[in-house]
Amino acid sequence: MSAASNNERLEGEPMSLWVATGGTTEYPGLRGEVEVDVAVIGGGIAGLTAALALKRAGRTVAVIETAHVGTGVTGHTTGKVTSLQRLAYTELRDSHGIDTARAYGQANEAALGHIADMVATEGIDCDFRRVANYTYAETDEALARVRAEADLAADLGLPATFTTEVPLPFPVKGAVRFDDQAQVHAVKYLQGLALAVDGQGSFVFEGARALGIREGSPCVVTLENGSVRARDVIVATNVPFGDHGRYDARSRAHRSYLVAGLVDNPPLDATFISVDEPMRSILTVGIDGKSYILAGGEGHPASEAGDTAVRYRRLAAFARDHLGITEVAYRWSTQDGIPLDGLPYVGLMSPTAKHVYVITGLRKWGLTNGTAAALILADTLTGRENPWAAVFDSNRAAPADSVKPSAAENPEAATATTKRTELAPDEGTVFEVGGESTAVYKDIEGNVHAVSAVCTHLGCIVDFNPADTTWDCPCHGSRFATDGSVIQGPAVVALPPRPVP
Ligand code: FES
Repeated sequence: MSAASNNERLEGEPMSLWVATGGTTEYPGLRGEVEVDVAVIGGGIAGLTAALALKRAGRTVAVIETAHVGTGVTGHTTGKVTSLQRLAYTELRDSHGIDTARAYGQANEAALGHIADMVATEGIDCDFRRVANYTYAETDEALARVRAEADLAADLGLPATFTTEVPLPFPVKGAVRFDDQAQVHAVKYLQGLALAVDGQGSFVFEGARALGIREGSPCVVTLENGSVRARDVIVATNVPFGDHGRYDARSRAHRSYLVAGLVDNPPLDATFISVDEPMRSILTVGIDGKSYILAGGEGHPASEAGDTAVRYRRLAAFARDHLGITEVAYRWSTQDGIPLDGLPYVGLMSPTAKHVYVITGLRKWGLTNGTAAALILADTLTGRENPWAAVFDSNRAAPADSVKPSAAENPEAATATTKRTELAPDEGTVFEVGGESTAVYKDIEGNVHAVSAVCTHLGCIVDFNPADTTWDCPCHGSRFATDGSVIQGPAVVALPPRPVP
């Protein structure tokens, strides 16, 4: 349901530190037709990593990015590059068995090594640096769990130790530590990948929205002003475009929040995540002579946003009280698919697809999982065996409860409208106008913008998100700007304009 905005008191620029400090790229849009070996839809970590790996293997590629390189989900990451992902190995062993946990760890370690290799061999200036990563415990119950995770991860061959020496400026009981992990300026890294992809018969297109995929020989990806013909297509758009595999029903859209605060004397030289709730993710970043501490957390299913402004405030308070920030410089939120069985989906788009592939469900660890996924598909498309392909197989059997509501199945989400009649500046709400649910936003100058409130994915009614000034769909996580344009799928079509009530 819509919520009033109390945005004005939120600290910090409402944008990602990485996007704010990464500069921008200016690749052309596509006009006309191009033919390549592989079309890659999505200029994030998965798409660009796959494109460059394929180009290095002798294929021509075209990357189709709807906005600019690095401005999507990858540009809103924490920047952690690590195979230590809270208590992932305990969870994967318990749900899938020890071999799957081992394969997942190996794939993520290989991804970390691949990123280091790309930075070195392509000469990418992206603040990549090796740091230790910790999953820390503040309670006795969590301590037992990190001890078990450390033992298990070490048994799996991962660089794990249990330690009570945790370099945080507040007391904790102990942690799992993985050595030789990393952090990176994600936007600069992607820009370096894009630079290496473009040229010699391969392309990066920006401002290029794919409208359809026709599978065949060749496949044809249609765009507004052109098309790409390719033997194979990789869909790496976070939430799959042209989804025939029901990934919206096989993943749960999950949102989380980050603040980047300025610090005078950075106390940390490692990355951290807590086991105890509320979960907190922490790292230190130096950019242009300034030191920032990033504090992340406040995650929730996209359908349960609540008061998003309060979430930012809680993170800011944590960063101030526990980490000594002097002010919040940036704040942003991000959203990723959590696969219902805990493993990313990588492979053919559907059981009947032959040349259309998908990468999705990266479970909020996209820098390594996206890289691992990209390398799996690069191997698949060049006829090489990949030891982890079966574990990530996109067409594995789905868990039984993997059905999520559409508007038809969720009447409440399809009819939720408000009785409010007035809006304050920077506030949005949903009105019933002439029998149509209309999403109405009044900007800070007092101009009113109205679009349909009916999500163009499957017809649920969007909610106003006052902290991010977006229209968010509670059913499968699509997000729209106040002018109706799509920020994040599965919707691919904008909310159409409506008369201002
Ligand atoms: Fe599926 Fe909106 S109905 S994201």
